[in-house]
Amino acid sequence: MKTAIVTGATSGLGEAAAEALGKAGWEVVLVGRDEARGAAAAQRVNDAGGKGVFVRADLFSVAGVKQLGAELSARYPRIELLVNNAGGAFGGRELTSDGVERTFALNVLTPYTLTDALMGSLAAAKGRVVNVATAIPNGQKTTVDAVAADASGFMGYSKAKLALVALTLEQQKRLGPKGVTVVSMHPGVIPGTRFGVGVIPAPIRSFSNFMMKLTGFGVTLDEAAARYVAAGTGAVEPGGYYKGGKLTPPPVLAGEPAFREGLWDKLTSLHAAH
Ligand SMILES: NC(=O)c1ccc[n+]([C@@H]2O[C@H](COP(=O)([O-])OP(=O)(O)OC[C@H]3O[C@@H](n4cnc5c(N)ncnc54)[C@H](OP(=O)(O)O)[C@@H]3O)[C@@H](O)[C@H]2O)c1
Repeated sequence: MKTAIVTGATSGLGEAAAEALGKAGWEVVLVGRDEARGAAAAQRVNDAGGKGVFVRADLFSVAGVKQLGAELSARYPRIELLVNNAGGAFGGRELTSDGVERTFALNVLTPYTLTDALMGSLAAAKGRVVNVATAIPNGQKTTVDAVAADASGFMGYSKAKLALVALTLEQQKRLGPKGVTVVSMHPGVIPGTRFGVGVIPAPIRSFSNFMMKLTGFGVTLDEAAARYVAAGTGAVEPGGYYKGGKLTPPPVLAGEPAFREGLWDKLTSLHAAH
């Protein structure tokens, strides 16, 4: 049985992707904080024909992510797929217990740290990493220091995801020679998920969900899950950014070597400090 680690699999897209991988016969480690939702999601993987294992971890803490990585590496000497899916937008600037701004911590620093911690098992399987991003305006501007200092709010979230796409390109450059393939993806917009709670006012969320259903702009959870499976198991371009299932040029800033290298240095120093 092949092994996938899916973070943020107790809810929404991660849960749907875990179930779809279960249907394809995978053992899926579902990472999240909520024990009850985690157990239910793992059961859905079992019911789909795979093997679901829930592991509780707080991905806001660098030490917690390192410990999770050490435990999973010991348990699984080979890991075919890591889906860095846990992420989201937060309303106001707030620091984690490590003193890192929380949107940047969850959406960028955690994927860096967990991938690093699982490298041995990923390399042993010539595995793949899928970093879950979003749709990012092509002309989006920021600096590494600015996005690390404050990625709160909806615009900040988009910049954090831009940094995640830049990280993907840098990871591919550095980890590719070890046999690991790294891609990023935007799964599409899925009406009715918990995404945006606390950032987008409730009436606007309800209205936009309604409009997406009416216009057919949004995609279903099943369609999004199929995109996760394609990015995780299908033929891909190493380092590629997949938007709505299609290989798409990454946002310009994400491809700039100075931005990517500056980001790598920032993440390396935050990683070393905790
Ligand atoms: N929904 C959309 O339309 C959409 C569109 C584009 C991109 N995305 C991206 O897709 C991904 C999934 O989104 P979603 O809408 O499915 O999100 P969601 O329903 O809010 O689920 C978020 C998941 O992340 C986990 N999580 C959050 N903070 C955590 C922490 N500190 N430690 C451990 N786990 C944590 C949650 O686990 P617990 O609840 O158990 O803590 C949950 O399983 C995100 O990266 C999001 O940015 C979503």
